[in-house]
Amino acid sequence: MPRRPSSPHRSLWRSGSNARLERLATARGRGRHGYNEKMVETPTDTPHTGVPELDGEHVMQIRLLLALEKALEGANRTVALELISRLDKFTESHFESEQTLMRLYGYRGTEEHEREHARLLEELRRLTKRVASEDTKALPSAAAAIRSWVNNHMQTFDRAFGAFVRELTQGPIG
Ligand SMILES: [Fe+2]
Ligand SMILES: [Fe+2]
Repeated sequence: MPRRPSSPHRSLWRSGSNARLERLATARGRGRHGYNEKMVETPTDTPHTGVPELDGEHVMQIRLLLALEKALEGANRTVALELISRLDKFTESHFESEQTLMRLYGYRGTEEHEREHARLLEELRRLTKRVASEDTKALPSAAAAIRSWVNNHMQTFDRAFGAFVRELTQGPIG
């Protein structure tokens, strides 16, 4: 009888390879300014991939981006720099997890997806430099543009990969 492939990503997530990412996601970064991404409402419109581990990380990514926008709107450069630094580390770890999974499953769209990740990280780093040196009031729209790009990435690249994983691991047994 044909057997459904197991879900190696589940054990990958539990194995500790993502321990660093979990620490970043649960960091108590409230700091002396009493402000962090936990004070941002959980976004309800984050695109779903159907892979719970990815979806949880995507919500955290969007929350960090929303918190960054709020810090920039409030012209709080110190908080904005702290948030963008955490966002950068979190995003890098999340992309590494996704890329590990894509390679693990032999996903055909891996290279194109990785190039998109690299472009997004580059854009985040460009924004970090601007947050450090420019008038913060000019930057909320730049952060919003990145959030829109990330959202679109989840809607297209990540959803396509999610569908591939679901078909492979949860599809009907033939
Ligand atoms: Fe993602
Ligand atoms: Fe992705």
